[in-house]
Amino acid sequence: MSLYSHLECTHCNKHFDKNQINNYCPECLQPLVAKYLLNPNISKSVILTGRYDMWRYSAVLPVENESCKITLGEGWTPLLDLQKTSAAFDVNRVLMKEEGLNPTGSFKARGIGMAVSKAKELGIRSFCIPTAGNAGSALAAYVAVSDGEAHIYMPEATPRVFQLDCEVMGARVTKVKGSIRDAGLAMAKDNVDGQWWDITTLKEPFRLEGKKTMGYEIAEQMNWKLPDVIMYPTGGGTGLIGIWKAFQEMLIMGWVEHIPTRMVAVQTKVCNPVVRAFESGMDHCDLYENPGETIANGLRVPKAFGDRLIMRTIKESNGFALDVTEEEMILGIYEFGRREGMFLSPEGAAVYIGFKKLTHSGYIKPSDTVVLINTGSPYKYVDNME
Ligand SMILES: Cc1ncc(COP(=O)(O)O)c(C=O)c1O
Ligand SMILES: [Zn+2]
Repeated sequence: MSLYSHLECTHCNKHFDKNQINNYCPECLQPLVAKYLLNPNISKSVILTGRYDMWRYSAVLPVENESCKITLGEGWTPLLDLQKTSAAFDVNRVLMKEEGLNPTGSFKARGIGMAVSKAKELGIRSFCIPTAGNAGSALAAYVAVSDGEAHIYMPEATPRVFQLDCEVMGARVTKVKGSIRDAGLAMAKDNVDGQWWDITTLKEPFRLEGKKTMGYEIAEQMNWKLPDVIMYPTGGGTGLIGIWKAFQEMLIMGWVEHIPTRMVAVQTKVCNPVVRAFESGMDHCDLYENPGETIANGLRVPKAFGDRLIMRTIKESNGFALDVTEEEMILGIYEFGRREGMFLSPEGAAVYIGFKKLTHSGYIKPSDTVVLINTGSPYKYVDNME
């Protein structure tokens, strides 16, 4: 049974009825988040231990009707012990959450799977999204299963396989000159009447709930003792915010005793609005004008709708933000591949390089346990590597 109670504005805290269709707070123009009836008496026995996907945590997820849960096997990905990397950098324990094994090859399956399932419950069947690639592939897949309609807008520079992926699964794809922001603007023009449900990152509340399951899984896979540091490749920021949300929920229920975790956002130097905001102590991000080309398409986000939540998460967790160069990402892919036998996505390589830098700077200490998130499969990025 789901404990879902209502939606709440992250800025003015106003409540919104869970049975009505809402995107974001109409007054503050800020994201809404799902709230649950949580208390310390909710034991871990609510976890559906026989389910090996994200729906294992259905009690703290917003979909109430079993028949609306669309699944392609998303979630319950491995948390790998990187013993050679721990030894190489003299860090207590380094783990990798391998999200490339999700359906359609990325962690986007969690958020999109949740959003499309909840939409089914609310009676919505037409969707639109601007995407760097992976979210589009995931939307096409889940919408195909639910017999809906997907309108996907992606930058021209997106590797070809993403378009193919979407078209194979019956979605309508529009390529747009510029960044994901330009794709979003083109989409908004075509959706003036609001005939499609806009599931842009954090402009609807449920993708966050899917991404949050990474936080529940990390806790369960670590026997409810949270890591000291989590490193996350940040574009729109849903995973960073979602994992932090999961930790707060678990603390209320007493599933974890405390939260030692510092949340670290890693970006590319050619588009680093979060790093700039972090370095100047801001609570929001300025628009990053004219982002450069990057092999990590998912990190080319000039302005995230959830920018305030990203900055809040970093601040509350005593976290950090840093960037890496394109050359470093490529070197990281090869270095990590040779050591650990894993081909990382460029975003995952950004996280690995970020980890290395923070061990050198002393931010990561020898006593720390660190979780790196490899958010996607490398195989869709082969065009970028050539
Ligand atoms: C592989 C990969 N990693 C990271 C990101 C950034 O994720 P988020 O928008 O949740 O910050 C994306 C987004 O497209 C992605 O595809
Ligand atoms: Zn508000």
